[in-house]
Amino acid sequence: MFDTDTISRFQQIETPFYYYDLGLLRQTLEACKTASDKYGFHVHYAMKANFNPKVLEAVQSYGFGADCVSGNEVTTAIANGFDKSKVVFAGVGKSDKEINIALDADIFCFNVESVQELNIINDLAKAKNKTARVAIRINPNVDAHTHHFITTGLDENKFGINSWQLNDVAETLRSCKNLQFVGIHFHIGSQITDMEVYRSLCIRINEMQQWFEDRGFQVKVLNTGGGLGVDYHNPDTNNIPDFESYFKVFKDFLHIKPGQEVHFELGRALVAQSAALVSRVLYVKMGQKKNFLILDAGMTELIRPMLYQAYQKIENLSRKSEDRSQKSESESQISNLKCQILKYDVVGPICESTDCFQKDVELPESFRGDIFAIRTAGAYGEVMASRYNLRDAIQSVYSE
Ligand code: LLP
Repeated sequence: MFDTDTISRFQQIETPFYYYDLGLLRQTLEACKTASDKYGFHVHYAMKANFNPKVLEAVQSYGFGADCVSGNEVTTAIANGFDKSKVVFAGVGKSDKEINIALDADIFCFNVESVQELNIINDLAKAKNKTARVAIRINPNVDAHTHHFITTGLDENKFGINSWQLNDVAETLRSCKNLQFVGIHFHIGSQITDMEVYRSLCIRINEMQQWFEDRGFQVKVLNTGGGLGVDYHNPDTNNIPDFESYFKVFKDFLHIKPGQEVHFELGRALVAQSAALVSRVLYVKMGQKKNFLILDAGMTELIRPMLYQAYQKIENLSRKSEDRSQKSESESQISNLKCQILKYDVVGPICESTDCFQKDVELPESFRGDIFAIRTAGAYGEVMASRYNLRDAIQSVYSE
């Protein structure tokens, strides 16, 4: 991702900024498209992961749909070229204003998360003399002892409709004349790398599909949600997720009926590896107990490490040639003569103790002005940035 030319280019640019490798993004999208096309699967990009216009432009150019979670995302998706017939709208708290935006835009469907929401969408559609297509988001409520997907799938989660409410759902769907039932929707969590979890999801989807069919509903769409994870530890050697194995699980374990569509809502897997947060060292504080590298980026630019204790690889690009992790043992012995490897807490400038990207990171001895990259920052990075401390809005730089 960072050749010498790119690193010298960074030296001329004010930091911090997000760097997007658009070539890698396209390769990732291509890999996903090829793997999903093989089975005729439909992918909606979960644009909450990143709605940078250049990212949206690339994603939509491959013909993916958009999975939106606000009225603004619906409007932005369509304004950026996504086909409205491939836009879905999820979220536990859709406001009337947002539902109206989506009705006016004639999107493909609402992923509905409560019985009350079904009634509201029906009323608003009726007022416009329209029919709203709806899919029911089901909370799988799976016992953690037998299945792995506990992240969003239990009764105490706010997401989705619990199975004990499904009779109400069926009744409401029958009585609401301005709703058209298209299918069932699930989303069990994010950063899932164990394919066994998806196998368990398939079993649950099959059961739910049967439940609806037994009651006379035709399930045209099976929407499995998103969640495919990426390798945060190896952003160079494992930068494109294994889409083939992922889709194959669904091909093998879902009971797909003739004419039925299978939908996916991938966010992170499509965009995470294609960007890094680039920052400079402002100050180096060498202490008796701790050494601190104080960067000019902090939790305001990338909050995942602070909010979720998430690991994102940190590299000193200015001393990349000296980085022991990039070299063979003999090479690193030679370079260790020149450069020391030290442990640092890599922190930001924000007035919060939690503003720390990672503690005790082993790095080549680093100096004021060194350029750092925090890798795998393309998903839930730029979009979660804030202006706290009245920081400048974060800028973006793109590969040529
Ligand atoms: N569909 C639904 C209904 C979702 O709630 C999400 C993500 C996705 C699809 C896309 O999931 P993905 O493929 O990106 O895993 N900010 C957190 C992640 C929050 C995910 C929220 N929902 C993070 O930085 O790890």
